[in-house]
Amino acid sequence: MNAHPAERTSASAEHLALADAVTAHNYHPLPVVIAEAEGAWVTDVDGRRYLDCLAGYSALNFGHRHPALLEVARAQLDRATLTSRAFHNDRLAPFCRDLAALAGMEAVLPMNTGAEAVETSVKLARRWGYEVKGVPDGRAEIIVAAGNFHGRTTTIVSFSTDPEARDGYGPYTPGFVVVPYGDAAALRAAVNENTVAVLLEPIQGEAGVVVPPDGYLADVRAACTEANVLLVLDEIQSGLGRTGRTFACEHEGVVPDVYVLGKALGGGVLPVSAVVSRWDVMGVFTPGSHGSTFGGNPLAAAIGQAVVGLLETGEYQERARVRGEQLHAGLAKLVTDGHGLVEVRGRGLWAGVDIDPALMTGREMSVRLMRRGVLAKDTHGSTIRLAPPLVVDDSEIDLLLEQLADALQHE
Ligand SMILES: Cc1ncc(COP(=O)(O)O)c(C=O)c1O
Repeated sequence: MNAHPAERTSASAEHLALADAVTAHNYHPLPVVIAEAEGAWVTDVDGRRYLDCLAGYSALNFGHRHPALLEVARAQLDRATLTSRAFHNDRLAPFCRDLAALAGMEAVLPMNTGAEAVETSVKLARRWGYEVKGVPDGRAEIIVAAGNFHGRTTTIVSFSTDPEARDGYGPYTPGFVVVPYGDAAALRAAVNENTVAVLLEPIQGEAGVVVPPDGYLADVRAACTEANVLLVLDEIQSGLGRTGRTFACEHEGVVPDVYVLGKALGGGVLPVSAVVSRWDVMGVFTPGSHGSTFGGNPLAAAIGQAVVGLLETGEYQERARVRGEQLHAGLAKLVTDGHGLVEVRGRGLWAGVDIDPALMTGREMSVRLMRRGVLAKDTHGSTIRLAPPLVVDDSEIDLLLEQLADALQHE
């Protein structure tokens, strides 16, 4: 097949060359230069349209430029955008009230990026361990899972098991114990009197949309309760509608002690993250013990509250459930068709798709899909992730499945 327009026209080529010259090479983006976006679709600088099947790693659950979110953002731009936490602003408390209610919790600590929220949960768990549980100072341990992805700070990469994310960034932060994901017995065996928390993704996104065995989360929940250990669930990618429920842990009837949220909480407009918990946990934070200049700013809070409003309707969870069934039925058929799809995992509108490594890498598949007007992202080896915005309709899911089938068989 000839080069895709984005690879040869001057507008795209110019952007790609400029990016290569001046943008740090910590990413390897597909050679598509997006200029505009709406709903589930983006348009590149040459006017070519693509169905966005990555949705900003779930940051765009409600699609690009959701009208209700833009309206709230525009109105807030005309009122106040940033106050710092030195003062109150009139948008923060209503946002926190609504988010806490959505999560069935009591208190919210707003931050910006997902990694900051995860860092916040680590600090929260350690402080709770020392002040409430009585762990000797400096001895707190947090259990995490192999294959985890919780962000990119030095502390978080300290407990990553992915050499790409971790190598070269030592010395590493101590206090983390890694156990295999999906193995509740191994997790139970790792708990000791200094364990303050278990930090898990209910479904591991970056690892390739890895769904743990049925009953795993419930077993971990029981182990945490028995040992007086906090269960901290990182729902940054899995939460806020993606799997067909507000939170992925609901599929197992599990309620954590601490939710870590991000991505879609900002409605695809700006970074908004939060840690959500009960007062008996959140109460350990005192003035000056933690914070962020931008966390809880009125613009972010207004948008976050509007996002919670969208989720309160249940419409997006239902869309993820129904369209997710369509997606997974289509993917399962592609596996049985035997054209090189070997395994599919996932829940709701979220799938990790393994391609026969003898056939091609995930990167090659992403490029083939791009050439067919579908944007998706590879992860480790021959896996691609599909996570379209929850606003896709049935014909768009059909389009994705058709293009995937075609891309398996033709360059
Ligand atoms: C489960 C999970 N936690 C944390 C993060 C980090 O979020 P951010 O990139 O906003 O720092 C991500 C990002 O992909 C994630 O998927």
